[in-house]
Amino acid sequence: MTRITRRAALASVAPLLAGAALVSTVNAQQPSASRALVACLSRSGNTRVVAQQVRRATGADYFEIVTADPYPEDYEETVAQAERERQADFRPRLRELVASMDAYDTVYLAFPIWGMTVPPPVRSFLATHDLAGKTVFPLITHGGYGIGSSLAVLAEDALAADIRNAFTLEQNQERQTLAAVTEWMAATRT
Ligand SMILES: Cc1cc2nc3c(=O)[nH]c(=O)nc-3n(C[C@H](O)[C@H](O)[C@H](O)COP(=O)(O)O)c2cc1C
Repeated sequence: MTRITRRAALASVAPLLAGAALVSTVNAQQPSASRALVACLSRSGNTRVVAQQVRRATGADYFEIVTADPYPEDYEETVAQAERERQADFRPRLRELVASMDAYDTVYLAFPIWGMTVPPPVRSFLATHDLAGKTVFPLITHGGYGIGSSLAVLAEDALAADIRNAFTLEQNQERQTLAAVTEWMAATRT
């Protein structure tokens, strides 16, 4: 396996960092005592429900993974863009970064499966935050085709993290809803 030096790794993500604001996930007036962080990517809310339940149960801080350039509103356009990004091995720039990753021992990394693997914005998150030595619990939702190569990709992207047992859940709300509404509209048309 090729061992990437930290300097080379940082050089490769420099464009991702440019322009991204460093934000603290904790209130400046009331520093959080929590050593756990929930970091979540969610388009249609399924993964956010899981992530927020874990946040409430653990008292962890919460960080939402958001790209600087939003994905399309349309589901199919997002699927197509995500597929292009996956094929090009593209890492979209994030709108904000966690300012104080050193403060956390445990990271719950919540994301949906895109294109049978880890979505590009989550790979950007992993490229721009050092999870070495941290315990990482993946919280993964998928639309019925399973979690694909996501655990192997996580293991590569967070090489020095201690990746533990993943929570996985099938959730296909957006696609089912779109299909149901389309069917209703077709039946309703006069
Ligand atoms: C761009 C995109 C790609 C997807 N690719 C897959 C896939 O390859 N396999 C799968 O089972 N579900 C896939 N899904 C479905 C989502 O993984 C699933 O519905 C997930 O629960 C959505 O989470 P969210 O509501 O937090 O965004 C995809 C959804 C999107 C938007």
